[in-house]
Amino acid sequence: MRKLTNILVTGGAGFIGSNFVRVLLNDSAFKGRVINVDKLTYAGNANSLNDVAEAKGDRYIFEHADICDRAKMDEILSKYDIDTIVHLAAESHVDRSIEGPGAFVQTNIVGTFTLLDAARQFWAGKEGVLFHHVSTDEVYGSLGDTGYFTETTPYDPHSPYSASKASSDHLVRAYHDTYGFPITLSNCSNNYGPYQFPEKLIPVMIENMLQRKALPVYGDGKNIRDWLYVEDHNSAVWAIMQNGTLGGSYNIGGENEWENIRLLHELIDIVSEEANINKEELTSLITYVKDRPGHDRRYAIDCDKLKNELGWKQSVTFEEGLRKTVKWYLENREWIEQIQSGEYLKWIELNYSAR
Ligand code: NAD
Ligand code: DAU
Repeated sequence: MRKLTNILVTGGAGFIGSNFVRVLLNDSAFKGRVINVDKLTYAGNANSLNDVAEAKGDRYIFEHADICDRAKMDEILSKYDIDTIVHLAAESHVDRSIEGPGAFVQTNIVGTFTLLDAARQFWAGKEGVLFHHVSTDEVYGSLGDTGYFTETTPYDPHSPYSASKASSDHLVRAYHDTYGFPITLSNCSNNYGPYQFPEKLIPVMIENMLQRKALPVYGDGKNIRDWLYVEDHNSAVWAIMQNGTLGGSYNIGGENEWENIRLLHELIDIVSEEANINKEELTSLITYVKDRPGHDRRYAIDCDKLKNELGWKQSVTFEEGLRKTVKWYLENREWIEQIQSGEYLKWIELNYSAR
C-alpha cells in the first residue's frame, strides 16, 4: 500500500471533490494533510466543507487558485511539499460545453497540462509520489442496446466536455509513457448524491419538483445512464490511489442502468413520499423538450478489473442512495440558495429557458 501524506485535491469545493475530501479526512488510517485547490467557479462552494475545516484543523487547508496558473501551482506544490495529487477540477456539465466549449478546453486540457507539468518538475528525482486523474466514462462514446465499456474500449467522445476529458486522459497517459511520470487514472459513470450542483439530472429534477416547475426530459427520455452514489466513486478512487497499478486505468460504475424517464418516475415516488407532495401533481410536470445535440444513447460500465484487482464494491443501493439524496436536498435549503445565487441563474436564464 502506498503511503500518501500531503495530498493536493483539485476541485475540492465541487460535488465529487468535497465528498472526496470528507472521505479522506474521515478515514482513520489516513494521518496526512489535504490541500484543496479550487478556483470557485459557479459550481464550487468552499462552504460545503465548513464542518471538515472546523473538525480537522490544520489537516485541511483551502487554497483559492486556478489550476491554469503555473506560478501558483509551483508555489503550492512546494509550500506544502505535495507528494500526491488527485485531480478532479474541471468544467463538468455537458450542456454548458455545448453552449461554451472554450472554458472546457481551458480548464480540462490546459489546466490538466499545467498541473501535470508543474508536478513533473517538482517531483523530478522523487520516489513515492502519485498523480491520480479522475475522468469519465463519456470518453468512450455511446453504446447500443448491449455491451459495456471496458478499460480497452477505444475513445470516441461526442461532446466538447467529453472531448476535453479524453484529451486530458491522453495527456496524463502520455506523461507516464514518455517521462515515467507516476499516474493512475479512473473513468467513472454518472454520480449522484448530496452537494451536486442543480444543473445535473437528479438535482434539477428534485429542485423543480419542490418548486412545482416543469421536469424537462430531453428527447424521448430513453437514454440510459449508469448511476453510482458519490461515496462509492470516492472509495474506489481512494482504493486505486493506495493500491492500483502505476500507469493503470480503472473503470468505476454502479452496474445500475436506468432509462432517464424510468429514473424520473422513481424519483417522483421518493420526493412525493419524503416531501409529502401529491404524486399525480408531480407526474403532470413531466415535459418532453428538444433533445441535447449529440446526446449519447447509453452508457454502461464493466468494472470487473477494479473489483477483481482491488476488491472494491458498491456499498449503497440505488433506492437507499436516492432517498438519502432527496432528504439531503430537503434538509439543506441554505446550501441550495447560496449556490444558486450566482452565475448559474444568469446562465440558465440565457440558455436553458430558451429550449
Ligand atoms: P463540479 O462541477 O461539481 O466541480 C468542479 C470543481 O472544480 C468546482 O469546485 C470548480 O470550482 C472547480 N474548478 C473548475 N475549474 C477550475 C480551475 N480552472 N481551477 C481550479 N478549480 C476549478 O464537478 P464534479 O461533478 O464534482 O466532477 C469532478 C470531476 O469528476 C470532474 O473531473 C469530472 O469530469 C469527473 N467526473 C464527474 C462525474 C459526475 O457524474 N459528476 C462522473 C465521472 C467523472
Ligand atoms: O457519465 C459521467 C458523466 O455524467 C460525467 O462525466 C459528467 O460530468 C456528468 O455531468 C454526467 O453527464 P451526463 O450528461 O450524463 O449527466 P446529466 O445529469 O447532464 O444528464 C443525465 C441524462 O439526463 C442525460 O441523458 C441527459 C438527461 N437530462 C439531463 C438534464 C440536466 C434530461 O433529460 N433533462 C435534464 O434537465
